[in-house]
Amino acid sequence: WAPGAASRRASTGVTTVRCQPGLPLRERYDAVRARTEALVAALGPEDMVVQSMPDASPAKWHLAHTTWFFETFLLGPNVPGYEVFDAEFGYFFNSYYEAIGPRHPRPLRGLLTRPPIDRVIAYRHHVDTHMRAFLAGGAVGPELEALVRLGFAHEEQHQELLVMDVQHLFAQSPLKPAFDPAWSAPAPGPTGRFRPVGGGPVRIGAVDEPFAFDNEGPRHTVWLEPFEIADRLVTNGQWLAFMALGGYRRADLWLSDGWAQRQEEGWESPLYWQHDGEAWSHMTPGGWRPVDPDAPVTHVSYYEAEAFARWAGARLPTEAEWEHAMRTRDDLEQVDDVVWQWTASSYSPYPGFRAADDAVGEYNGKFMIGQMVLRGGASVTPAGHARISYRNFYRPGQRWMFSGVRLARDPA
Ligand code: AVJ
Ligand code: FE
Repeated sequence: WAPGAASRRASTGVTTVRCQPGLPLRERYDAVRARTEALVAALGPEDMVVQSMPDASPAKWHLAHTTWFFETFLLGPNVPGYEVFDAEFGYFFNSYYEAIGPRHPRPLRGLLTRPPIDRVIAYRHHVDTHMRAFLAGGAVGPELEALVRLGFAHEEQHQELLVMDVQHLFAQSPLKPAFDPAWSAPAPGPTGRFRPVGGGPVRIGAVDEPFAFDNEGPRHTVWLEPFEIADRLVTNGQWLAFMALGGYRRADLWLSDGWAQRQEEGWESPLYWQHDGEAWSHMTPGGWRPVDPDAPVTHVSYYEAEAFARWAGARLPTEAEWEHAMRTRDDLEQVDDVVWQWTASSYSPYPGFRAADDAVGEYNGKFMIGQMVLRGGASVTPAGHARISYRNFYRPGQRWMFSGVRLARDPA
């Protein structure tokens, strides 16, 4: 049994438009904001309003919420005399910041037919005008620059969420729409192998990055036993073997919570897979496509990933193993590659972590319970957004994100 096949970012469509992280702040602001607008350019007004499940948000909401973030955390506190575009928008577009105030319930975001999209676009333009003046005005020292960069990283996170959410919405449509028809699947490559990594004390966490989220630090020492890690990701072909050999029917492979969810929701395959009697196809950013056995498996929950690993006589890597392997081996499929990889680590604070006392402190810290860390990046992650120290996180039963599997194992 081998770990899988190599794969490489090969898309050319709007979901992979690049905007360079190294640009001066003002140009970077424009590039990030333009990328969001390019993502929604092919959507119609109805596409932008509907919320297809409570975890997802309408595209219109993403457009407004990212704007609200700049207005609330940068313009309001730092631009003397700044007047908010619309005093009601705080209620609509605050996602979860208790310190800021009350908000519209998340599962009801799809009921916001108003404000209309035109007004949300006007909101974006208003905030853009003021942000440009703010960034050009010379008032941005290192502390504010960090907050501006948080705004960029935030908008980029929402760009990926927007792709996930529109894909989920389009997967419900009998018309089989494609979000990004030019999207091409990651290219398959040679079969992978397990690679040995030595143990001992290792350093984990962000170091000297132009930007990192607070949850990526403090950098600290972790003790690792020697382990092996796959240099490639688990493929659809390997997943088909798991399915054919009863992987979704064998309770003995599954964690109890995972088995319960599998029973409840009737899982027989990854999310978005459909069998037409002859072959499997699945929803991708490029619409419904045949399942490519050589491409990395996508849209699996932690529970499925964990059951697969047990079935394969392996396990998931811890986040420290993943990060250390990436830092020390150059023969592993690298960060910013094709799919996020579940780790065996729960999303907890690093030793010495303390979230900021202000509202921005709610960004990551308060979610450090009941979720698992994913590492890497996906083909739909904005280029340059993720890092080796990047900690993505989702609940173990969620699977509409671009989540896949890299295996690890203990040395024989
Ligand atoms: C890291 C993707 C789980 O979706 O809430 C967006 C990203 N944080 N706005 C999320 C995020 C604040 C976050 N995830
Ligand atoms: Fe957000």
